[in-house]
Amino acid sequence: MQIGIYPGSFDPITNGHLDIIERASKICDEVIVAVLKNTNKNPMFTLEERVALIEEVIAPYKNVKVECFSGLLVDYARQKKANVIIKGLRAVSDFEYEFQMALMNRKLCPEVETVFLMTSSKNSYLSSSIVKEVARFGGCIEGLVPDNIKQAILKKI
Ligand code: PNS
Repeated sequence: MQIGIYPGSFDPITNGHLDIIERASKICDEVIVAVLKNTNKNPMFTLEERVALIEEVIAPYKNVKVECFSGLLVDYARQKKANVIIKGLRAVSDFEYEFQMALMNRKLCPEVETVFLMTSSKNSYLSSSIVKEVARFGGCIEGLVPDNIKQAILKKI
């Protein structure tokens, strides 16, 4: 049984995240989208809002669910009996930080493997922050996020 954890802030989820979730759902028996209770950042959406929005977009994937976590990712992975941490890689600029996290997570918990899925090229420039910035200044975010997320962002701003 392959249980994969896809962690992140998801403030909010984008089409790039969704693409990784869809592909991970084909590789793993179960995928848990794990939203970090992040107290350091100043999010646009509350934790509850982020979870509710993700629930809407993952509804078509029967082996995907969303939860939130705090503390170390590897402790959460152990608790969920997950074998893999799933990460999306967009550009070379993601690599250094992701590499550091993957090595630290392996040191802390060697039994959990980090698996990187390369982004689809159409999403390689996407991030939650850039989508929010474009929306804040009146730019078009059509096709960058699912429709319910687009509406939620427009409502916030
Ligand atoms: O979407 P983000 O903000 O890039 O996601 C970062 C996340 C949640 C994957 C990362 O910050 C994380 O795993 N945080 C949990 C705390 C932890 O385990 N830190 C040590 C990682 S080496």
